[in-house]
Amino acid sequence: MIKIAPSLLSADFAHLADEVKKITDAGAEYVHIDVMDGTFVPNITIGSPVVKSLRKVSDAVFDVHLMVEHPETQIESFAEAGADIITFHVEAARHSHRVIQQIHAAGCKAGIALNPGTSLAMIEELVGDVDMVLCMTVNPGFGGQKFIASQLEKIHMLYHNLKDLGLDCDIEVDGGINAETSKLVREAGANVLVAGSAIYGSDDVAKAIKEIRG
Ligand code: DX5
Ligand code: ZN
Repeated sequence: MIKIAPSLLSADFAHLADEVKKITDAGAEYVHIDVMDGTFVPNITIGSPVVKSLRKVSDAVFDVHLMVEHPETQIESFAEAGADIITFHVEAARHSHRVIQQIHAAGCKAGIALNPGTSLAMIEELVGDVDMVLCMTVNPGFGGQKFIASQLEKIHMLYHNLKDLGLDCDIEVDGGINAETSKLVREAGANVLVAGSAIYGSDDVAKAIKEIRG
């Protein structure tokens, strides 16, 4: 099943509660929350207090994407704040498997993310234990960047690897997803589609979601 995860990074931060309602009313399955620390990536964005406040006004599935160094220091606070899915970058964790265990122990689903320059080999020993793999289709740090088409091959390989292993694991893509690129990533095997600027930048959010869903 295709799930749409609009990224709050492109929302109006002065009206976050309304911005969450806008996308969930329009049929989005997830709310994608980009957490950046200014070190793993250049930007600084949302912390757990914001997630905690949003949890009070929404029952939606909160898909938290940690783009932070030392993700192990952040799991409990985001879980307590109301995250449903916590994804961290394999490039940022020394003990990735332990972080996955930590996320599950905190009661959340666990995702592992790969930058465009990171090979699938990095997660070979982890795919059996995660609920989702996030393939970045831009270099993380900013919204509104151009889709990196070379990642389609990686997504396709991941899809077949998971199938061969008989694993029921979601494949999420993030970065440069719009009505055109969504078709390509869906064909490659992705089923959770993050989109920031293509959804929040549209005058008709429901239409944008529908087009991305395909
Ligand atoms: C990028 C973030 C994305 C970003 C996507 O580092 O992880 O979630 O918001 O934005 P668009 O869809 O505009 O590329
Ligand atoms: Zn993201």
